[in-house]
Amino acid sequence: MLINRVLKRSDILSCSLCHDAPCSSACPVMDPARILRSVWFDNQDIAALRLPADNPCLNCDAPCEKACIHTGKVPVKDVMIRLQSEVRPRSEIDIPEDEDRLACDICGRRLENPFLLSSSVVASTYDMCARAFEAGWAGACFKTICSFDIHEASPRFSAITGDSGSIVGFKNIEQLSDHSVAENMEIFRRLKDRYPGKFILASIMGQDEAEWEELARLCEENGADGIELNFSCPNMQEDGLGSDIGQIPELVERYTAAAKRGTTLPVLAKLTPNVANMSPAAEAALRGGADGLAAINTIKSIIGVNPLTFVSAPAVKGRSAIGGYSGNAVKPIALRFIAELGQNEALKGLHISGMGGIETWRDALEFILMGAGSIQITTAVMQYGYRIIDDLKDGLNYYLAQMGIRSVRDIIGAGLDSVSDSTDVLERDSILFPGFDHDKCSGCGRCVISCMDGGHQAIRFEDRVPRLDGSKCVGCHLCMLVCPEGAIFPAAKRIAGRR
Ligand SMILES: Cc1cc2nc3c(=O)[nH]c(=O)nc-3n(C[C@H](O)[C@H](O)[C@H](O)COP(=O)(O)O)c2cc1C
Repeated sequence: MLINRVLKRSDILSCSLCHDAPCSSACPVMDPARILRSVWFDNQDIAALRLPADNPCLNCDAPCEKACIHTGKVPVKDVMIRLQSEVRPRSEIDIPEDEDRLACDICGRRLENPFLLSSSVVASTYDMCARAFEAGWAGACFKTICSFDIHEASPRFSAITGDSGSIVGFKNIEQLSDHSVAENMEIFRRLKDRYPGKFILASIMGQDEAEWEELARLCEENGADGIELNFSCPNMQEDGLGSDIGQIPELVERYTAAAKRGTTLPVLAKLTPNVANMSPAAEAALRGGADGLAAINTIKSIIGVNPLTFVSAPAVKGRSAIGGYSGNAVKPIALRFIAELGQNEALKGLHISGMGGIETWRDALEFILMGAGSIQITTAVMQYGYRIIDDLKDGLNYYLAQMGIRSVRDIIGAGLDSVSDSTDVLERDSILFPGFDHDKCSGCGRCVISCMDGGHQAIRFEDRVPRLDGSKCVGCHLCMLVCPEGAIFPAAKRIAGRR
């Protein structure tokens, strides 16, 4: 079920993925909310395999749907029955018994799985990290620590949402931890004491070499397992900090070397995507002694310009500021930077901690295939909570088992050979024509519209049936991408110019 998914998010769009979900309280036999979440987070095989084999939903009058906060609007029973009847019979393996495949490391220090909270509000207090660890996260990159005062604005977030109302892209103008260094060091001590097996990555930002060195030293003394250097926050009030550093390789090298003087722990340089290429900063970090890289931090952005006030969001008393963009919308940009780092021969051997828009195990897998050895997440946690770790771990573990891959380590960077930063390498002599599944086709004609106005006028509409003219089709696949029914597929390949 890796390619063709039976159920999609769109099948449960009206589900709010509730906290303390009434559907689960109402169901006497299972936890429908957990199963719906698995469908949402691209884990339908596991959702299906978790259902009781005797299909209790078939003869049930669906108290789950009656208890739902959107009474009757979420097709819980139908989804459970489809999982049983359509997904379960096609699932290739049982749910694997252990999660050993997920174990990996950051610079030789063990991670029970690749998933860490990334440095942000989601990892900013003892209680938050403790709850995340209990939920199954392998570690946390703690909210960036600094020794200067932080005063945040309100509001500080804004978002672009998709049709379901869920956040696709997220803008923040937040800076660093507003706890004192001493308070944060106490948090590290308590976390390490209570959770010795979890990885504490301490994110730091200094104002000069002495501060970078001192913060790195303090973090090691107080229980951190690694240090991440924040060369990439785009929201700093003062000039010369955060992404201002990340854009100047000489500063990256100098401050990395300073931090290395203060610690024996692995040091990761967190780089800014607000550059054309990341390699100059990454190579500078290596020269400074970095053991690894982390990317991406947020992308400078403007969103939501208000048509009445002309002020972009978030508006703070009539003013706004360029701020960092994150969330699922930035994933392609993040992947491109990860691949650039992964392909750079000069950086071979450096650990890459990948982030930027990861919500599901499949997103995480894409980062791993592009060279990430660990995964960090913020925006999806802000939106959905620490509980997403269940489907991240379950899904990745199931995928590895299904593919017969012994360890996640074995596929780090496995997709890099397919990526080229030039289109020169591509074969240009053949055309991959679309095929039409007329049983699935609803006759909407969206493929016709797109091919007429955005393509090559190669689809005719005859009695509401799309017909391809192979002499005009260039195989661009726009029709496939716009089809709401998933009724168009890659079909026959032909050498261009030949019939
Ligand atoms: C509200 C918010 C606060 C953040 N604070 C920090 C920070 O203090 N230090 C840091 O290195 N990155 C910070 N980030 C960036 C994230 O760690 C991460 O690099 C970025 O959001 C991309 O990942 P995501 O799409 O999973 O959120 C912050 C991001 C957000 C959304």
